[in-house]
Amino acid sequence: MTVNPYLPQSAKIISVKPQTAVDYTFIMESEIKPTSGQFVEVSLPKVGECPISVSDFGEGWFEMTIRRVGKVTNVLHQLKVGDVIFVRGPYGNGFLMDKYRGKEVVVAAGGTGLAPVKSMLNRSREYGGLTLLAGFKSPADVLFPDQLKMWEQDFNVILTVDRGDDNWHGNVGLITQYVKSLQLAKPDEVEVIVVGPPLMMKFTVQEFLGLGVPEKNITVSFERKMCCGIGKCGHCKIDDTYVCLEGPVFNYTRAKGLID
Ligand SMILES: Cc1cc2nc3c(=O)[nH]c(=O)nc-3n(C[C@H](O)[C@H](O)[C@H](O)COP(=O)(O)OP(=O)(O)OC[C@H]3O[C@@H](n4cnc5c(N)ncnc54)[C@H](O)[C@@H]3O)c2cc1C
Ligand code: FES
Repeated sequence: MTVNPYLPQSAKIISVKPQTAVDYTFIMESEIKPTSGQFVEVSLPKVGECPISVSDFGEGWFEMTIRRVGKVTNVLHQLKVGDVIFVRGPYGNGFLMDKYRGKEVVVAAGGTGLAPVKSMLNRSREYGGLTLLAGFKSPADVLFPDQLKMWEQDFNVILTVDRGDDNWHGNVGLITQYVKSLQLAKPDEVEVIVVGPPLMMKFTVQEFLGLGVPEKNITVSFERKMCCGIGKCGHCKIDDTYVCLEGPVFNYTRAKGLID
């Protein structure tokens, strides 16, 4: 069945999994066909609508990982398995998966930035090699702990928190300091993806450039304030660029000029 991406479609919740106190993963029964890095507009009648990245997908389902921050997301977090919401999409360009096939790929994800790259990490066998640098504020903020353990079996995972606690025996420190420690044999051939809060992206990209990774090999994804998601309202516009239509994924050669 072809789904009209401009019309809200009903989608039934088939699983709800708390990741942290404020981040829940919802698996939805739905016929939409997203690709890695795309987003949907989630709507609740009489409440509102908001853009959310697709964190994973398959035949007849897709997944979202949603942080409770306000009007719509507060209500979403109260929903249970069997409840129905509405989604429009998928929207946005997503990651150019063909670009990464067979290449050495490094993904740097900060906080909820791990959600939009989760589905591409699950396809790790498509790349020549894969390293994930995942950074969170504290151990209580770590997303997808089960998945991280599985990923560690398949590829190089560097997990770090800004501040540890008595039970944390892993890495402590910002992602940027772990970028410095990467041993990149051929930095000019590595493909880098950086997703996270704006400051994290800015400084992480600088570290990769410092290692010799060319700008054209760096991809970022913007979680900019959006409303309609389809190029009508102008909320996401930077100069002449509609981030909802031309992004949210951008090559750094383009993204570096998209600062307002
Ligand atoms: C492409 C894209 C992908 C995204 N993907 C995800 C994702 O995968 N997961 C996710 O959790 N989020 C994601 N987001 C962010 C998400 O869209 C927002 O968090 C969401 O719009 C919040 O909606 P809300 O109605 O719950 O919050 P709102 O009520 O709109 O509040 C949003 C923020 O504004 C603040 N705020 C609200 N009212 C006021 C006020 N009166 N004064 C000051 N501050 C106020 C709130 O504290 C909160 O921080 C994405 C955004 C984009 C653009
Ligand atoms: S979100 Fe409305 S134009 Fe981009």
